[in-house]
Amino acid sequence: MQIIHTVTELRQVLTNQAKIGQKFGQKIGFVPTMGNLHAGHIHLVDLAKQHSNIVVVSIFVNPLQFSPTEDLSAYPRTLEADYEKLTTVGCDIVFVPSVTEVYPDFDGNNLNQSMMIDPPPIANVLCGATRLKHFAGVATVVMKLFNMVQPDVAVFGKKDFQQLFIIKEMVRQFNLSIDIIAGETVREANGLALSSRNGYLNDTQQASASQLNSALQSIVNNIKNGDFNFQQLEHAASTSLAQQGWEVDYISIRSSATLQTATAQDKDLVVLGAAKIINKTGGKTRLIDNIQFRISD
Ligand code: PAF
Repeated sequence: MQIIHTVTELRQVLTNQAKIGQKFGQKIGFVPTMGNLHAGHIHLVDLAKQHSNIVVVSIFVNPLQFSPTEDLSAYPRTLEADYEKLTTVGCDIVFVPSVTEVYPDFDGNNLNQSMMIDPPPIANVLCGATRLKHFAGVATVVMKLFNMVQPDVAVFGKKDFQQLFIIKEMVRQFNLSIDIIAGETVREANGLALSSRNGYLNDTQQASASQLNSALQSIVNNIKNGDFNFQQLEHAASTSLAQQGWEVDYISIRSSATLQTATAQDKDLVVLGAAKIINKTGGKTRLIDNIQFRISD
């Protein structure tokens, strides 16, 4: 596995090297990550391998998608362990750029000079309602990484359902010639979706953290049993989580095709949730999860 830090070197390797060059008809598969890799990421790399000949994984903790009150400086950075996992899974290239490599106009303090993608209004609901500009930061870095790697296919996890939706929109609206592949969420045995932020929780808190998935699952079961009172279902799940000590950001039943609030006519649904749970330092960790499902006619 090659470890590459600059765009120049990445381009040289991807276009010129006889064995792996894109000009030799090799398909490039890309998995963007912020590192601290777990089995969920490895599943995405496996998927990329199935759909391409050369797999590039980027590791870049993107400052542009964190608000000043979020965990940018605390975000877990585990490069050596990540390299080991990527070597084992058969990743070809890991791209680990610096902040200035990605944002050449970064002045060491802020990124105000950076040109940004302005995503559509769907980026301002759900996670975007409280994480202001988060999806503008995600879309901008993903567009930049796409331009650097120039992949044929790129893989994103379904756990970040809204992110996946916005990236697909970006690819469609900007006519990018990249196939977006969605990877299933990998879970602990108790249902907890794997996330780098689970590392902020001790074992007991991780066991409690599965309550978020249970709350979403109970909504799915109720809908499948014919209860279409969506608002009441959302309210009941939020109340139950709050009673278990969670600070609920949202629980929302949406159309999985449009991500708009679901109506009784929608058959393809997704129920999404975001909530904060007490972590091992006594602070709060925000977790997200979702379940996509179809109602039979
Ligand atoms: O999902 C993530 O890890 C990040 O949002 C991404 C897509 C790597 C962009 O920084």
